[in-house]
Amino acid sequence: MDQDTPSVDLLDCAPTVSTFYEEIVTGLRRTPPRLPCKYFYDQRGSQLFDQICEQDEYYLTDADLEIMRRYAPQMAEQIGPGVMLVEYGSGSSSKTRLLLDHLQDAVAYVPVDISRAHLQQTANTLSAAYRHIEILPVCADFTQPFELPTASQKPTHAAVFFPGSTIGNFPPDEVRRLLNQIATLCGSGGGLLIGIDLKKDVATLEAAYNDQQGVTAEFNLNLLERINRELEADFQPDHFRHDATYNDDQGRIEMYLVSQRAQSVSIGEETFEFDQGDRICTEYSHKYTVAEFAEIAAGVGLALRRQWTDRQNLFAVLHFARMN
Ligand code: AVJ
Repeated sequence: MDQDTPSVDLLDCAPTVSTFYEEIVTGLRRTPPRLPCKYFYDQRGSQLFDQICEQDEYYLTDADLEIMRRYAPQMAEQIGPGVMLVEYGSGSSSKTRLLLDHLQDAVAYVPVDISRAHLQQTANTLSAAYRHIEILPVCADFTQPFELPTASQKPTHAAVFFPGSTIGNFPPDEVRRLLNQIATLCGSGGGLLIGIDLKKDVATLEAAYNDQQGVTAEFNLNLLERINRELEADFQPDHFRHDATYNDDQGRIEMYLVSQRAQSVSIGEETFEFDQGDRICTEYSHKYTVAEFAEIAAGVGLALRRQWTDRQNLFAVLHFARMN
């Protein structure tokens, strides 16, 4: 680590190896088999995701950044002074800086991420850059309940920042559960600033998940490499193929690893058989209209207060407040 960057203390509630093992095995036993997408983000996976964000076809990052650059001052005003800002799936926190730059007297910033190394690095960098904001990183799977750290200064309220359309990974019932959890976490006076990817033509959507350079394919296949590395499994990644298509009925991109032959794979004591053409679902990425998403949120007591979109209407950032 840099000599001049002190290391920030990190609250560690990350899933253990046995949780990882259980979730992988349980997922593969289902019909059809699936693997939880949160496990994409080991060190290599986090790097590959950052690379996806630089691909021309992956319009989400540019659109999201355009919105943040343009409207961060309005968003900060909407959030209000004295906040504890909790970020879900913070990754490299590049959008956060735009927000932190405009927040009035923010008390603390709590990045929550499942990828420990990435989180630690981000926290160190941010704490050097924002001396007046307490940086309190939490390494956790935010789909599970986790503890909020206590800030040394008392915040007036908490707000959750959930950028990048990560919420798209969850099916509607899970979205309701997560939004509920967020509403509870924030308490009264709390708010939610969340990014969603908007519905658009299928060609644009599918291109974003099938980039020419094959980075998304590598990202998808890295999940098998990670399982091999960490769970003593013997997947042969080159016997699987990346597939990503838009499911119009469900309004989502579905990502799969397709078995290219009959094969068997062992993970610890377990063996799994795959026929040629068998598909393991690795990720959903739901697309919404603002109205569709606002309706789900309203169902758990979150009222849409403001919305911002990019000039091409590809992506939206929404601010919700708790209706008490
Ligand atoms: C990080 C969930 C927003 O769904 O677009 C990118 C993950 N997967 N390419 C998305 C992802 C394949 C991404 N999110």
